Amino acid sequence: MEIERAYDFPKLKLGKVKMPFTSLSLREISEMAKKVTPYKESGEGKKKQVTRMFDTISGEYDKLNRVISFGTDIRWRKRVVSILASKKPRRILDIATGTGDLAIALKQTGAEQIVGLDISPGMLDIGKRKVKEHALDDTIEMVIGDSEALQYKEDTFDAATVAFGVRNFEDLRKGLKEIYRVLKPGGTLVVLETSVPTRFPFKQGYYLHSRYLLPMIGRIFSKDRSAYRYLSESAAAFPYGEAFNNILKEIGFIGIECRPQTFGVASIYIATK
Ligand SMILES: C[S@@+](CC[C@H](N)C(=O)[O-])C[C@H]1O[C@@H](n2cnc3c(N)ncnc32)[C@H](O)[C@@H]1O
Repeated sequence: MEIERAYDFPKLKLGKVKMPFTSLSLREISEMAKKVTPYKESGEGKKKQVTRMFDTISGEYDKLNRVISFGTDIRWRKRVVSILASKKPRRILDIATGTGDLAIALKQTGAEQIVGLDISPGMLDIGKRKVKEHALDDTIEMVIGDSEALQYKEDTFDAATVAFGVRNFEDLRKGLKEIYRVLKPGGTLVVLETSVPTRFPFKQGYYLHSRYLLPMIGRIFSKDRSAYRYLSESAAAFPYGEAFNNILKEIGFIGIECRPQTFGVASIYIATK
């Protein structure tokens, strides 16, 4: 199955194949996501490549995140925090925590324990430093882990969050199943992920941003150009909106809701175990 892009821009003639996500099974979507990798020439699997890529860009990640999103990523994370604050979780697992911005912001929910988990030691090192700087060591624990094989027992957490992480999973299905397993019954999952605007002129603006601006920013500022190509390719090839809702449903989540952010360039998904 060859998927060039999940969206097409007829006038700009971007995509060879338009594949509506809603018509694909979760297994097909997982297979497709596996094929979008940072280093095309590498023989390594997606997980190893993604870990290597985030280790390489960890030192520049926070700054570039602000530039790429024009600072809106901070506002989106705040929305995730306010959604969870109303549910008063005691223990939260922030998966693919990276440099820990969301884990740190989640302190505002009043949670007693927050675990920030990530597969990249490089990203975690920066995160650990930030947690220390915020004097949050007592509440936030930063741990190495793989979202597809979580080291926690069933029904451990009141809430789980993933910000810009799910599209990097090697096996999306496995990752989401694991999150479901470690959540307590009635527990909440909140996912923040990039999505693709569907309306004019945001759709076209998004295209220009991801096709030209993002790689240009990567070329100018980053040690790893392919990382920025991967970020835009993986965003375009990831299911969003109804398609992602369906995936959550298939895993077993209930009460699923999708809230598009900033003209649909990102979406927040809320689901209950
Ligand atoms: C784009 S960063 C997002 C970091 C952070 N959540 C944020 O909002 O800035 C994606 C993160 O997912 C992590 N990641 C990718 N695959 C993972 C996996 N299987 N298990 C845990 N973390 C993973 C990467 O190491 C990286 O730190």
